[in-house]
Amino acid sequence: MIDERKLRQTAMQMLASDKGLLAMDESNPTCNKRFAALGIAQTPEMRRAYRDLIVSTPKLGESIGGAILYDETLRQTTHDGGSFVQALERAGILPGIKVDAGSKPLALHEGEQVTEGLDGLRDRLAEYAKLGARFAKWRAVIVIDEAKHLPTRTAIEANAHALARYAALCQEAGIVPIVEPEVLMDGAHPIERCAEVTERTLHLVFHQLRLARVLLEGIILKPNMVVPGLKCPTQVSADVVADTTIGVFRRVVPAAVGGIAFLSGGQSPQDASARLNAMNARFKGALPWPVGFSYARAIQDPAMKAWSGQEKNTVAAQQALETRARLNRLARRGEYDAALEAA
Ligand code: 13P
Repeated sequence: MIDERKLRQTAMQMLASDKGLLAMDESNPTCNKRFAALGIAQTPEMRRAYRDLIVSTPKLGESIGGAILYDETLRQTTHDGGSFVQALERAGILPGIKVDAGSKPLALHEGEQVTEGLDGLRDRLAEYAKLGARFAKWRAVIVIDEAKHLPTRTAIEANAHALARYAALCQEAGIVPIVEPEVLMDGAHPIERCAEVTERTLHLVFHQLRLARVLLEGIILKPNMVVPGLKCPTQVSADVVADTTIGVFRRVVPAAVGGIAFLSGGQSPQDASARLNAMNARFKGALPWPVGFSYARAIQDPAMKAWSGQEKNTVAAQQALETRARLNRLARRGEYDAALEAA
């Protein structure tokens, strides 16, 4: 028996009051890559210090309802000797945990990947629940490559199946699963191609979730926005992204789903805010799910840059982080304006 009430409540709480989620769950290799680009030392202590700065940012809890941690962080302590979970709870932010083991090449499918991490997941979830995690995250990546006719149905199905098995295990453990099927932005394809692949992917994901008996009210969907490839010569306005994305979701995302929290996926922080804002402004009151955010790069990038590994930059970094979190909360209400960027 699963605790349906608890799952529904947690899912609702994650996106309540127009807040969103902060993804701060970069794996060590990903975090190191971002540190290296800014000349920051790639050590466990620097990762700890950076995340300590994040969770102790004043007023973060006014815009962020949940933060996704990485396993390493869950076992480290903040500057005052407490756990990261305690620091988040003090700030009124629900703690979550990334539980997938990363994406690996899919056998016999060159250029495609499948996310691993199901083995032993039941036991890991039980431990995470004891450590205070209220929700979890599993990311699958879907590649668009027009020349190679990707994605294949096999890759989408393998990832959808893994997402559904993960989600069922989470719900058994009383943890809300963030279901993240990310259609990557890499490529020169037009927005129509992204729309087609995103629709196909979400359709298969919800099919698998149903087969796995997952309670849709007790999940948060973390999808990509429908956008043109990064190298596509025809880029589009925020309004077109909003209309195309919502058009696709209305067809394939059941109304029962607890909430939608977009990933940023390599969009600039400004684009990520403007597009989220356009969705909420243009469809105000007309959508069955809350439409929010679960950004990593689009919230963290300016802050990480401001910090650059120097303690003396802590306050400036925290201000940059708080600013992006706040602007995205405004975008949830349809009240974001590019002019606020300068303020
Ligand atoms: P981005 O917002 O940087 O895409 O990261 C979101 C995330 O959590 C990816 O799994």
